[in-house]
Amino acid sequence: TPVRLGDYRRPAWSVDAIELDVDLGIDATEVSSRLVLRSDTGQSAPLRLNGEGLELLALALDGQALDAHAFRYEGGVLEVDGVRDGSVLETRVRVQPAANTALEGLYLSGSREHGFLLTQCEAEGFRRITFFPDRPDVLARFTVTLRADRQRFPVLLAGGNPTGVGELPDGRHWARFVDPHPKPCYLFALVAGRLENITRDYVTADGRAVKIVIWSEANVIDRCHYALDAVERSMRWDEHTYGRNYDLDVFHVVATHDFNMGAMENKGLNIFNAKYLLADPDSSTDDEYRAVEAVVAHEYFHNWTGNRVTCRDWFQLSLKEGLTVFREQQFSADMNSVPLKRIEDVALLRRTQFPEDAGPLAHPVRPAEYREINNFYTATVYEKGSELVRMLAGRLGQEGFRRGMELYFQRNDGQAATIEDFLGALGDANAIDLKPYLAWYAQAGTPRLHAKSEYDAVAREYTLTLSQQTRPTPGQPEKVPVPIPVKLSLFDRDGRILPLRMDGEEKADGAERVVVLHKAAQRFVFKDVDAPPVPSLLRDFSAPVVLEYDYTPAELALLLTHDPDGFNRWEAGQQLALLAFDTLNDSVDSAACKAWCEALAALFEDRQLDDALLADLLTPPGEIELADRQSEVDPSRIHAQRQVLQQRLAAHMGADALLARYRDLSAHASQPLDAASQARRRLRRRVLELFALLNPERAHALAATQYETALGMTDRLAALGVLVRDRAPQAAAALAHFRDRYADNPLALDKWFTVQAQVPGEPALAIVATLERDPAFTLKNPNRARSLLGAFASTNPSGFHRTDGAGYQLLGERLVQLDALNPQIAARLATAFNGWQRLEPMRRVVARRALETLVQRQGLSPNLSEIIGNVLQH
Ligand code: ARG
Ligand code: ZN
Repeated sequence: TPVRLGDYRRPAWSVDAIELDVDLGIDATEVSSRLVLRSDTGQSAPLRLNGEGLELLALALDGQALDAHAFRYEGGVLEVDGVRDGSVLETRVRVQPAANTALEGLYLSGSREHGFLLTQCEAEGFRRITFFPDRPDVLARFTVTLRADRQRFPVLLAGGNPTGVGELPDGRHWARFVDPHPKPCYLFALVAGRLENITRDYVTADGRAVKIVIWSEANVIDRCHYALDAVERSMRWDEHTYGRNYDLDVFHVVATHDFNMGAMENKGLNIFNAKYLLADPDSSTDDEYRAVEAVVAHEYFHNWTGNRVTCRDWFQLSLKEGLTVFREQQFSADMNSVPLKRIEDVALLRRTQFPEDAGPLAHPVRPAEYREINNFYTATVYEKGSELVRMLAGRLGQEGFRRGMELYFQRNDGQAATIEDFLGALGDANAIDLKPYLAWYAQAGTPRLHAKSEYDAVAREYTLTLSQQTRPTPGQPEKVPVPIPVKLSLFDRDGRILPLRMDGEEKADGAERVVVLHKAAQRFVFKDVDAPPVPSLLRDFSAPVVLEYDYTPAELALLLTHDPDGFNRWEAGQQLALLAFDTLNDSVDSAACKAWCEALAALFEDRQLDDALLADLLTPPGEIELADRQSEVDPSRIHAQRQVLQQRLAAHMGADALLARYRDLSAHASQPLDAASQARRRLRRRVLELFALLNPERAHALAATQYETALGMTDRLAALGVLVRDRAPQAAAALAHFRDRYADNPLALDKWFTVQAQVPGEPALAIVATLERDPAFTLKNPNRARSLLGAFASTNPSGFHRTDGAGYQLLGERLVQLDALNPQIAARLATAFNGWQRLEPMRRVVARRALETLVQRQGLSPNLSEIIGNVLQH
C-alpha cells in the first residue's frame, strides 16, 4: 500500500537521545542502542520502531529485560508495550555486513581481506542497523561508540565531534563521537577499516577551527587533492553567498567504490561514490573534474539545506534536494562559467527530466504518494526541483532571495520543514505571496508555453500573447495554470537589442524584462516599437517549460548570431537545429538547415568566441531530446538523421577549415585544468567528430595519434570515442591498450565499458554481451553495472531499441539478476523502459512483451515492481 502525503501525522514518540555501541565485524556486527523516549502526543500510544532484517539479541525497558508478550517484532516493526514519557529502551541486535549486497544499512566495500565497513542510511537504511523511528521528523542527539580489532579496523569514524579513543583487551580499540546537533537517523554514518587520509586546517568566517579530512584506500589517496580543494571552496562560498558556516570541529569525507548513488551528506561524515571524489588528469576527464567539484559542493551545502534544516517527511525531499542542486548550480557557475553551466544543466533537464515528466513515471516535484521512496530520487525531484527554486530566486532577485533564505534558516534551524515553510519564509521576507508557486510542486508534466506575436505599425505596438497548457499525466487528468516567469528581450532585424517600455510605463527601462504568465492566457503590450521585432523568449531558460513559438529560421539565426548572452545564443541554435532536423528529408538543404549551418560556419570563424561555447553551439540536441518530440519514435532513424544533420553542418564548414582548426587546437600545450585549456579540448573533440563525418579515414588516423599522444584522459577518451563509435580499424588496438593500462583503475575501466556500450545501432548488443563476459564485469558493483548496462539501455537509444527486442530481453534478464542483489540499482536501470509506449509499433510490441515477462516474475523487490508496474501502467 502506498504512503500518502495527506496521511502525515506527527510522531507519537520521539527520541531525545540515542547512544549507539557498535561492535564491528565483517561477517557479524553487534549494535547496542539506548533510546531516551519522549511522548509527543501525551497519549500512551504503543511505541513502534522500524527494524529490517535485525536479529534481536536483547531488549530491555527501563532496565528490565522484556518478556516475549510485552513486544512484537514482525513486518519490519518492533512494537513495545508499557513505554512512558522518559522511558529508556535498550536493544541489542546482530547484522551481517558482508552479506549485505543491497548497499543499504551497514555493508562491506571491497574484499573481505582488504575492504572496509560503511553505512548508507538515506532514505530508510538506519532500520537495517538498529531499531528506531526511521522517519526524518524524529531528531535525536547521537552518541556513537565504535569498537573493533585494531589491526583490521585501524580507522574508526562516525558523525559528530570525536570525544575519545582508547584501548581494549585482545588487540581491540574504541572511539567515541558526539554530535551536538540533533539529527534524523538518515544522517547517521560510520566508517571502519584501513584508510589513509589527507587533511587541511580551515577557519570558518565565524572563527571555528575545522579539520577537513578526506579518507580513501591507500592506493587512491593521492587522487583526493582536487576534492579537498573543492571542499574548501565550497565552505568559503557558502559563507560569502548565504552566510552559512560549518558547525563541527571536523569534516570527514570518505570515498568508496561501492555506492548506489553519487554521494551522501551524512552529518560530519560525507560518503562519496569514488567516481565523484577522485580526480587526476590521467584518469579523469574535464567533465569529471567538474562533476567532482559539483558533488563535493552539493553534499557540503546539504549541511545547511538538508541537515540543519531537514525534511518533515520524504514527500518534502525536494525541499533539500532541489534547493541544494540549485545552490550547487550557483556555486559551479561562479567557479567556472555562467553560460556553460546553464547550458549543461538545461541539456540535462531535457535529456532526463522532460522524458520522465512526459511518460508513465511522471510525478510532481512533491509526489502525493509513493511505495518505495528510493524510487523518488529522480530528475524531477532534483533537477526540476532546482528549476522551481531558480524561478523563486528570480522572482525575488539576488538580495531578496538571500533575505528569504536567512529567514528560512532562522525559522527552521534544527527543525524538520516542509515546502510550505520554504515558500513562506521566502515570501514573508519580501512581503510577497509565493503560494501560487505551490501548484508547480503539486503538478506533474512539463507545461507547454505558447507564444504569439502581433505588431501594430500605426500604434507602434508589439503584443505578445502567452498561453499555457499541461498535458494529463498518470493520475492527474486535469491541470491548472502555473505562474510562468518569461524573461525576454526584443531585437530589431539588424540584431540590435531594443529598450523596453510596457503598457502603462512612462519611459523605457532596460532591455530585458520578466513578464509572468499567471493565467491560462495573457497579453503583454510593448510601446514605441518601430518595426516587427524578433522576440527572445524564456531567456536563461527562465521556467522549465517547452516553448512553442513560430520562429522563422532567419529569426533564430539572428538570435544565434547576435544575442550577447551565451546561453540564449545556444538556445536559439538548439531551436534552429530542431527546425533543421524536422525539415531534413529533402535532398536539398531546407531554409532552416541552411540558416543553421551558415550561422555556425560564420561563428566558427569568430575568434572572439569562447572555444567551449563554440563546441556546445556546434552540438545539436541529442537523440533522447529529439525522440521526446515525436509520437512514433524510431531510434535508429533518429540516430541516422541526426548524423545527416551533423554531416550537413560539417560539409558547410568544410573539411579544410575543420582540419585547420583541429591542428590549431592540437598545437597548444595542454594544461591540466585552466579554463582555456579545457575549452580547447572540448572544441578539439567536437571538431574531430565533425571532421570524421566528412573524411573518416583521415579522422581516424588523427584520432589514433591523438590517443597515443594524449597527455590526459579528456583527449585520450575523446579519441577513443571517435575510433570506437565509428568502428575504425584502429579501435581494437586502442581498446586493448586502454584495457591493459587501466586494469587496476576501476573508474577508468568503467569508461572503457561505457564507450563500447555506446556504439550506435545494430552492433551494440553483441558488444555488450561480449563485455559481460570480461573478467572485470560484475553486477555486484553499481558503477560497473551502470557503466555497461546503464550506458547501453539509457544512453544508447539506437543500440538498445532493436526491432527484434533483444535489447529489452537482455536488460530484462539482468534486472532480475540484479534485483536479487541490489533492488535500488535494478529499479534505477529499469527506468530505461520509460517511453516504450511512444515507440513505433514494432518496437512497442516487443518492449511490452519484455515488460510483461518481467512483471509476471515472482519475488521481485518492491523497488523494481513499482517501476515496472508504473511503466506498464498496471
Ligand atoms: N541525499 C543524497 C544526495 O543527493 C542522495 C542519497 C540517496 N540515496 C538513496 N539510496 N536514495 O546527495
Ligand atoms: Zn542531495
